[in-house]
Amino acid sequence: MPEPTPAAPASCAAGLPTDDGITLLDVHKSFGDNHVLRGLTLHIERGKTTVIVGGSGTGKSVTLKHMVGLLKPDRGRVIVDGEDITDYDRDQLIRVRRKFGYLFQSAALINWLTVFENVALPLRELTRMPEHEIEQRVMEKLTLLHVEKARDRTPPEISGGMKKRVGLARALIWDPTFVLYDEPTSGLDPIMTAAVDQMIIETRDKTGVTSVVVSHDMASARRIADKIVLLFKGRLIFEAPPDEFMNSDNPYVRQFVRGELHGPITGDAAATDDESAAAAAEPAGGNHTS
Ligand SMILES: Nc1ncnc2c1ncn2[C@@H]1O[C@H](COP(=O)(O)OP(=O)(O)OP(=O)(O)O)[C@@H](O)[C@H]1O
Ligand SMILES: [Mg+2]
Repeated sequence: MPEPTPAAPASCAAGLPTDDGITLLDVHKSFGDNHVLRGLTLHIERGKTTVIVGGSGTGKSVTLKHMVGLLKPDRGRVIVDGEDITDYDRDQLIRVRRKFGYLFQSAALINWLTVFENVALPLRELTRMPEHEIEQRVMEKLTLLHVEKARDRTPPEISGGMKKRVGLARALIWDPTFVLYDEPTSGLDPIMTAAVDQMIIETRDKTGVTSVVVSHDMASARRIADKIVLLFKGRLIFEAPPDEFMNSDNPYVRQFVRGELHGPITGDAAATDDESAAAAAEPAGGNHTS
């Protein structure tokens, strides 16, 4: 029964809400002849943490960029907080982006500014907020993330984990509804990874923020996720709460969780080329095994 390009995608038929959180409906995106997203349907639930996992080059970062309108789909819809933003122009998108904090993989801090000035930057550039209010807001975020003592240091003077925290403080400066984290723990040691995970959990619990986290790290995904989503060849092939995900019999999930060299993801099961591998993934699209 599954159609390659369903008019009413499986997750809608399954009754998932599209008026709250973030929903991607049957999104396709190509760069030249590189067909990256191939009918991605994904729902991000409000107030929850969704972790997106999948191999390198599957389209995880491209997926995040569609959520904030940095990329537009060739086909399909993107719905944010009840608004269909797919055809929005620049000004409309600027308004929608105020709802988002985006923690880039590199933290993207400016090395010659202090921690305080890095976090204050969006407020200085985009508002006429008085200095005492900027001071109050920035210190509130630095305190939330336990980096208030580093306010006068510059990024080269602080550790990698602290940089991630400062990057998050800046992402949270607008009190966003949604925070997108692209690989927040890559390159960090296990202790620092646990600290960043703790920060993501605390931020959700203290602010009620809706989080989308792209990660390669299954231990971390298990700690922070309310739901884990596996992408493969630009489609969602499995989603489930962490325990169910880790124990799933789905052959794609099993190969990914166990980090096995052989299996459907590496194309040495039934599927051998890109098209047949994606086709093999189709029947599992958007399904839970529960
Ligand atoms: N702006 C762009 N122009 C052209 N190709 C792009 C662009 N952005 C992404 N791509 C291509 O899209 C594919 C998916 O990229 P994406 O960055 O989403 O992968 P990813 O799943 O995040 O991988 P990784 O885990 O390595 O970060 C890659 O082949 C990439 O080269
Ligand atoms: Mg990426």
